[in-house]
Amino acid sequence: MAYTRMTAAEAAALIKNGENLALSGFTPSGTAKAVTKELAKIAVAEHEAGREFKVGLFTGASTGQSTDGDLANAMAIKYRAPYTTNPDFRKHVNMGEIAYNDIHLSQMAQELRYGFMGQVDWAILEVCDIEEGETTCKAYLTSAGGISPTAARLAKHVILELNSFHSAGAKYLHDVYELQDPPLRQPVPITGVSDRIGTPYVEIDASKIVGVVECHIPDEARAFKDLDPVTTQIGMNVAEFLVADMKRGIIPQSFLPLQSGVGSTANAILAALSQDKNVPDFNIFTEVLQDAVVDMMLEGRVKEASACSLTVTNDSLMKVYDNIDYFKNHLTLRQSEISNSPELIRRLGVIAINTALECDIYGNANSTHISGVKMMNGIGGSGDFERNAYISIFTCPSVAKGGMISSIVPMVSHHDHTEHDVNVIVTEQGVADLRGKSPMQRAQCIIENCAHPDYRQLLWDYLKLSSGGHTKHCLSAAFAMHDTLARKGDMKLTDFAEYVK
Ligand code: COA
Repeated sequence: MAYTRMTAAEAAALIKNGENLALSGFTPSGTAKAVTKELAKIAVAEHEAGREFKVGLFTGASTGQSTDGDLANAMAIKYRAPYTTNPDFRKHVNMGEIAYNDIHLSQMAQELRYGFMGQVDWAILEVCDIEEGETTCKAYLTSAGGISPTAARLAKHVILELNSFHSAGAKYLHDVYELQDPPLRQPVPITGVSDRIGTPYVEIDASKIVGVVECHIPDEARAFKDLDPVTTQIGMNVAEFLVADMKRGIIPQSFLPLQSGVGSTANAILAALSQDKNVPDFNIFTEVLQDAVVDMMLEGRVKEASACSLTVTNDSLMKVYDNIDYFKNHLTLRQSEISNSPELIRRLGVIAINTALECDIYGNANSTHISGVKMMNGIGGSGDFERNAYISIFTCPSVAKGGMISSIVPMVSHHDHTEHDVNVIVTEQGVADLRGKSPMQRAQCIIENCAHPDYRQLLWDYLKLSSGGHTKHCLSAAFAMHDTLARKGDMKLTDFAEYVK
């Protein structure tokens, strides 16, 4: 039985104002993009006609310009969860126009199932192949696992974007598995990075499939900035630290699976680890697999990888498809509730390495909010991994914006990861190993090893004027550096006197 074919514009025209859409994909990889682009055009026309048109968006993680970007610019998003990275979306969120719910990525599918965010009206899934059964459809995903099976099961209607840009070989990468909800949830039976426990396809009730949109659209994943001396040094510091931990027996000689976050720093760290001859060939258990890892897998440096998405440039994606016989045996793409499962991260002993915007002298980290108020991207999977890791590492350059901003501050302006979840902070200046240390020991270690020399004395001064019991602070001066940045465009205040009350 062949399902109805329709254009993206025809499919978009079926979606009504106020409805909620759940999309495939994770990052711009594997996300629906043909229908949403047309939906943005409909929203513009509706607004010009004086009518309200906004939808809710539920996704695996960020999407691309054809989804978050175009819909945000069309003022067509009433609600959105979870993570995004799109600059246009960021602009509209920070203008207060979109209700954006930034939750841990491992929790997205279950919060939809629990009904925390309302009903799912439409699921739009990008697929590389479809088995068009009478009662059941087998839909094969493309470059990401995301929340697709949950989206398709909960939705009233399903649209499939059959995107011929992706090789049908993508189907061999997937292990589709959805968790049961409490009180019926069972342990996830994965004990090794490459274990597979599900099916290669998403099973969908065929009666819900409204149409198939055939298209040929490249993934919209961005290339990250090239390595620079700062990110390269951070990468080398992380590699040296892990090698030292291995030499003293904290990390087993066979090594442990690594998770490395999103962005240019994450790419630099993986490159440094792969170049360090003292680091044995290793496995990756992560949520996004970036460009650096594709080559490392082909070289055998990374043996097995488990991820939620192939967040790679299209050149790297084609490399995977061209070598699918190799990758299907070494790479598994999973749903975000599995790739980021706290249960699995703990069981496998994953070493988590993520980038923070700022860290404070006690080891709390801010991954999301610039100066406490402006959303950057979101927490993504950083909390899933850091809270449950064997060793939780945060990295960041010691300064941002040409030195005007110190990434080490007296108190973070927004808390994403508490001091209880952060083992190690690494900047290009050095490594602060916080394990086993009290708050005051941590403060000394972070200022000494991670702060930029331009800010070190300022942070010592802050610590000196702080008082109290277990964790010393001077609350009236805790944000003096942030306040000085807001007033003068530079965090380098001359002294804390005016803030001490
Ligand atoms: N205050 C203000 N701006 C800051 C800052 C601070 N303390 N620290 C960094 N920035 C700015 C940088 O200057 C840069 O701005 P620019 O692009 O205008 O130069 C921007 O923030 C981020 O730098 P970028 O080069 O994009 O860094 P990155 O690619 O390494 O990304 C994060 C860093 C924190 C934005 C990114 O890792 C992220 O979104 N993390 C949260 C989610 C996460 O960790 N996911 C992984 C889980 S698997």
